[in-house]
Amino acid sequence: MKAIQIALLGMGTVGTGVVKILANNARSIQQKVGAPVVIKKILVKNPDKVRNITTEAQLVTSIDEILHDSDIKIVVEVMGGELPAKDYMLAALKAGKHVVTANKDVVAKYGRELFDTAAETHTDFLFEASVGGGIPIIRPLKQCLAANQISEIMGIVNGTTNYMLSKMTNEQMDYSDVLAEAQAKGYAEADPSADVGGYDAARKIAILASIGFGARVTLEDVYIEGITNITIEDIEYARELGFVIKLLAVAKQDDRGINVRVHPAFLPVTHPLAAVNDVFNAIFVKGDAVGETMFYGRGAGELPTASAVTADIIDVARDIRHNVSSRILCTCFEQKPIYPVSK
Ligand code: NAP
Ligand code: HSE
Repeated sequence: MKAIQIALLGMGTVGTGVVKILANNARSIQQKVGAPVVIKKILVKNPDKVRNITTEAQLVTSIDEILHDSDIKIVVEVMGGELPAKDYMLAALKAGKHVVTANKDVVAKYGRELFDTAAETHTDFLFEASVGGGIPIIRPLKQCLAANQISEIMGIVNGTTNYMLSKMTNEQMDYSDVLAEAQAKGYAEADPSADVGGYDAARKIAILASIGFGARVTLEDVYIEGITNITIEDIEYARELGFVIKLLAVAKQDDRGINVRVHPAFLPVTHPLAAVNDVFNAIFVKGDAVGETMFYGRGAGELPTASAVTADIIDVARDIRHNVSSRILCTCFEQKPIYPVSK
């Protein structure tokens, strides 16, 4: 049985998780795909770095070694950042390789170009891990809820800030100490100002709004306020009044158009989102037929995120193995009116 060979771009927190899952669950993955899935090459910045994992894959430092390798059918981008990640993914699609990514920066900004290129080259472009870490949310929005008109998507979509706010609330931990903890656990972005400034959550809600509403929602359309000004005192005052502070991402669609925002909010302690702590995320989606649905799970971290990435790899590998395409054309990114949030 011929193995399906793949390449990773990056072996940091998420890439390491993918290496572990493909090794630890190799047998069951092989059964699901109908062939072994093997990592042939991994692109890294520094091949001499001491890593806490061993792999038989070849560490390379040039993307060309992957793009020009005809054995490699799937390129898994887990290096992060806009560039060169976006260029590498485009080049991979143009070389006829399927692409899986966890990169919300690129999907939020260049999603349209990547979808179009994938459609032109008859390749898959999957990005389940870009929102909600291990929580299935992209596929449910695109597929399972496709029958609905979606009116609202809202929730907690950043693990780092939820971890921080939870620790500040429940253990009175200091902002900088708890941010350092979130970084050490691998939850934060390479530049954590994306997390605490609300930009990471904004990219994610822009992606969800684009898919859910069939619209083109970009970072520029999102009102953004992060948690940098939240103090232990604010949290204490909120507690005295029966509230907790959470960083919410909200996208609504009504007769006027679409409205998208990210900001800290006071939630009554009885609200379901008030009980979402630690690195967990929770996302409500409201559809006209289904009513309200809720998606909950770990929103960041090595194995939860790698779970979503590896599921995408398995999906593509299955299609390759059986010579079929379960590709869902993305109807998002249409122009629709977006109105500003009144403060
Ligand atoms: P990370 O720990 O910083 O790892 C990045 C990896 O990419 C490293 O292995 C690094 O190589 C490699 N790399 C970076 N720039 C490179 C370049 N120019 N050329 C070659 N290799 C390069 O990042 P991460 O936390 O795994 O995140 C990866 C992606 O997943 C990001 O898009 C992030 O937003 C997304 N994501 C992360 C999480 C999470 O919980 N961490 C969750 C969901 C989504 P070296 O090892 O040699 O330095
Ligand atoms: N930095 C992100 C977070 C990683 O904390 O949610 C998951 O996308």
